[in-house]
Amino acid sequence: MTTHVAVLVGSLRKASVTRTLSRALAELAPEGLQLSAVEIGEMQFYNPDLDETSPPASWQAFRDRIRGSDGVLFVTPEYNRSVPAVLKNALDVGSRPGGKNVWAGKPAAVISASRGALGGFGANHHLRQSLVCLDVPVLQQPEAYLGDAYNLFDDDGKLANETTSAFLSTFMEKFAAWIATNRRT
Ligand code: FNR
Repeated sequence: MTTHVAVLVGSLRKASVTRTLSRALAELAPEGLQLSAVEIGEMQFYNPDLDETSPPASWQAFRDRIRGSDGVLFVTPEYNRSVPAVLKNALDVGSRPGGKNVWAGKPAAVISASRGALGGFGANHHLRQSLVCLDVPVLQQPEAYLGDAYNLFDDDGKLANETTSAFLSTFMEKFAAWIATNRRT
């Protein structure tokens, strides 16, 4: 049986190291765990008025993608010690209209990356704060804050060192087990 994981990347940059990381995670995922990116950059900012009149098709499609997934993987950089606005917007869109929160009960994991030493710790934990409110069971261990991220990959976007590769493999294995244990359906 295939477990479908929606991957949300918090960077829109063409050369994003976070997106490179998300591809590496897809390659390291254990058998049966299939990761697919859900694009969030084109969605309008959330506005409750639109939900009452004519919700944008992009919001509907996004909500359907999350609803249809078995789990969600958040891969994010840190912007000013928090979550990039594009990712926060995706959380908001998925949380409404009231009573139709698509995140509720979806097993999730968070991994942050930064060129700096702190590995996006601030973004990682701000994101977790919202996920508590959204009733998302989030993998607790291993925590994943990848510092010095620009030096983790070679020119082909492949992981350049064994230690990181081994850590991320473990992270994905734990996430697969987390989904199996916490799936509500
Ligand atoms: C950043 N960056 C950053 N880095 C960090 O470690 N802590 C921070 O608070 C911030 N703040 C921040 C704000 C804004 C608006 C930008 C554009 C950037 C740097 C950021 O982590 C770095 O550019 C990453 O490489 C971004 O990830 P991608 O785009 O490479 O995936």
